[in-house]
Amino acid sequence: MIINTSKATYKEIKPGGSLIGKLKVPGDKSISHRSLLLGAIAEGITTIEGLLPAEDPLSTASCLRAMGVSISQIIEGETVRIEGVGLDGLKEPEGVLYCGNSGTTMRLLLGLIVGRKERHFVLTGDDSLSKRPMKRVGHPLKMMGGKVNGRCNGDFAPISVLGQQLHGAVIGTPVASAQIKSAILLAALTAEGPTTVIEPAVSRDHTERMLKAFGANIEVTGEMGRHITLRPENKLRGTKIVVPGDISSAAFWLIAGALIPGSDITVENVGLNPTRTGIIDVMNKMEINFELSNLREIVGEPIGDIRVMYTEEIQAFTLDNEIMPRLIDEIPILSVAACFCQGTSEIRGAKELRVKETDRLAVMTRQLKKMGALIEEKPDGLVITGNKKLIGAQLDSETDHRVSMSLAIASLLAKGNSTIARSDASSVSYPKFWSDLAQLKRN
Ligand code: S3P
Repeated sequence: MIINTSKATYKEIKPGGSLIGKLKVPGDKSISHRSLLLGAIAEGITTIEGLLPAEDPLSTASCLRAMGVSISQIIEGETVRIEGVGLDGLKEPEGVLYCGNSGTTMRLLLGLIVGRKERHFVLTGDDSLSKRPMKRVGHPLKMMGGKVNGRCNGDFAPISVLGQQLHGAVIGTPVASAQIKSAILLAALTAEGPTTVIEPAVSRDHTERMLKAFGANIEVTGEMGRHITLRPENKLRGTKIVVPGDISSAAFWLIAGALIPGSDITVENVGLNPTRTGIIDVMNKMEINFELSNLREIVGEPIGDIRVMYTEEIQAFTLDNEIMPRLIDEIPILSVAACFCQGTSEIRGAKELRVKETDRLAVMTRQLKKMGALIEEKPDGLVITGNKKLIGAQLDSETDHRVSMSLAIASLLAKGNSTIARSDASSVSYPKFWSDLAQLKRN
């Protein structure tokens, strides 16, 4: 049951039953943002199949429209068409660029606009985004000659940018963040001379793959692809993009299917880019019963189907900073899984979670504790002992989409009913989550 009030949505969840069936999760959020951004600055038409019709990509599209880019309406199941304005075609917007809840929109847009000479831009977002660090992007862009300012010495929105002619640079990023890397690469497209980004660990590489598909001169070298060099000599050419299903959205069903007795779920067309499949490695460590099939590649991205079945005994797991960039968004649902493992699981090297849409280490600890979880918050992670008995409680997403969906799965596994306040946060990345859940649920 959903109760709408003027400010929030509540969902009441009754546990029991199993989850059975096949489904396709919506398009990958990271790839959706990038296809809009690159389509906007390419020459000619870009078409996007499977673009995620959720709040975050809609924020990216509306900012691009405000800079004069024509993007067809984003409707589920319909191909999106963009008329690219070319590398220098973005117009100075008349108003503030509103990025909503989306860190990817703000950070990647900063990279996109910083080299647009003689144009002024102001970016802002909702309460959550206005508290998230932006200097991590502003600082490297300044190393390329960018003029980026914001509250608190440039760290927080509103951020203002005065477009400049940039120069190439060699930039080592202090954290393995695809958002930082992507912002630098987007800025590098109009810089004078080549730019190299060196990451401390490999973050998701959708930008590199897509830049190649649009015809950019980009080279990836070094140990495990850590040095990425972009030479700005090529124009981008509009192309056809097909967005695979988002493994970060599939993760809720992968864990639910393994944990809820009697379940058997197949998620079709899931993106299996190796920089995103940390969850698959952990499922192996947990000895979850699952299989991958129909493996193939679509427009430069590997995809496949994942079938997961109820697994009676699930092993505890340990995660460290090395695997973290490959499953960073799956930590909330993995912390639910840990409550049902044999033994104690440790999630370390995860302090980046403190600067996501919420402080996810604090929020998951607060919410799962209400359900009786044996969870301990550490500065850089969580330690969780699997006692296998959560109890229904009055929960709150605290406005975070991934928390909302993780708590939904926790509630299905609990003894007694739960309520989730602000459950509608899920529409940031997965608007159909609740109807997909209803479709899978068997009593
Ligand atoms: C994203 C990168 C990750 C991820 C976010 C999406 C992207 O953030 O958590 O949900 O699309 O580039 P960081 O780059 O900050 O690690």
